[in-house]
Amino acid sequence: MNSKVESVLKEIENFKATSEKELEEFRLKFISKKSVVTELFSEMKNIPNDQKKAFGQQLNEVKQAAQNKFKSIIDNLNSSSESGTQDHVDLTLPPAGREIGSLHPLTIIRAQIIEIFERIGFNVSDGPEIEDDWHNFTALNFPENHPAREMQDTFFIERNPDMLLRTHTSNVQARLMKSGTPPFRSIMPGRVFRNEAISARAHCVFHQVEGLYVAEDVSFVDLKQTIYHFAKEMFGKETQIRFRPSYFPFTEPSAEVDISCQICKGDGCQLCKYTGWVEIAGSGMVDPNVLENCGIDSEKYTGFAFGMGLERIAQLKYQVNDLRLYTENDVRFLSQFKTGL
Ligand code: PHE
Repeated sequence: MNSKVESVLKEIENFKATSEKELEEFRLKFISKKSVVTELFSEMKNIPNDQKKAFGQQLNEVKQAAQNKFKSIIDNLNSSSESGTQDHVDLTLPPAGREIGSLHPLTIIRAQIIEIFERIGFNVSDGPEIEDDWHNFTALNFPENHPAREMQDTFFIERNPDMLLRTHTSNVQARLMKSGTPPFRSIMPGRVFRNEAISARAHCVFHQVEGLYVAEDVSFVDLKQTIYHFAKEMFGKETQIRFRPSYFPFTEPSAEVDISCQICKGDGCQLCKYTGWVEIAGSGMVDPNVLENCGIDSEKYTGFAFGMGLERIAQLKYQVNDLRLYTENDVRFLSQFKTGL
């Protein structure tokens, strides 16, 4: 083999390139128009005729070797940058979008409820989750040792004097009324606790929104209109509402509020137990005893109150049929509420 060809071939074989810069050096030296390989080709004219054929074959060999090596350097560089050993940062790329979380469905529903009531003049009040017996029961006309206290399986924290986890948001009614003079027009969202085994239909922690309106000349008509307004704003104009007589110690008369089933639209399904109606709230006219317990003149003032479960409202809005989903923090569930923002 021609000695020049042989040394170029050796150089190609031994060339080590581990960066883009060295790759370019290789290209200039062995591949480009001004490469040593091209130079070798120009020697052809000095070669005696009878050796031209053999020399031509050697040149092709060198050329092929240069190209093979060039390709293998590129392959090496690509695979090492994929495995992270080589830093190739393209600063011109737009940044990758960052996933942001979504509001919890109960947060979305609470915000919607607040918005609906704020537009008709209700403000928002808050109260403690750890409550004394008086605000949770006694002020609200639950007689001492009356079985009505057992209607709400209570978590007691201390006995005599009794401290407990509030069983409903009605404790905030009592606190609000004791704190000032009417008129009161407020809703009170919050967390409540009852000693229940956790299942698809019950939980020991859940959320309510209490509503209270106390002023002169407040009647059941006001209660009905307010609930009508709320239900139609929340669930749509087609929603039917009915009031069913009921009992609560702190309201008289009392009524359970049902709306037409959002799932079957009244035809009957599992959720509404084939009645076409689902309960969304308890309500009634504030019992005069409750007003008096909180220092309000029941001759002068009347009022209505209602209380509803946030989980229930969210279940009807979003067709969530297992209460446990609200507390499991499963992103497959939670990320479905992005559109609710
Ligand atoms: N506190 C009642 C409950 O938890 C709901 C309610 C509130 C009923 C206000 C009437 C008036 O079941």
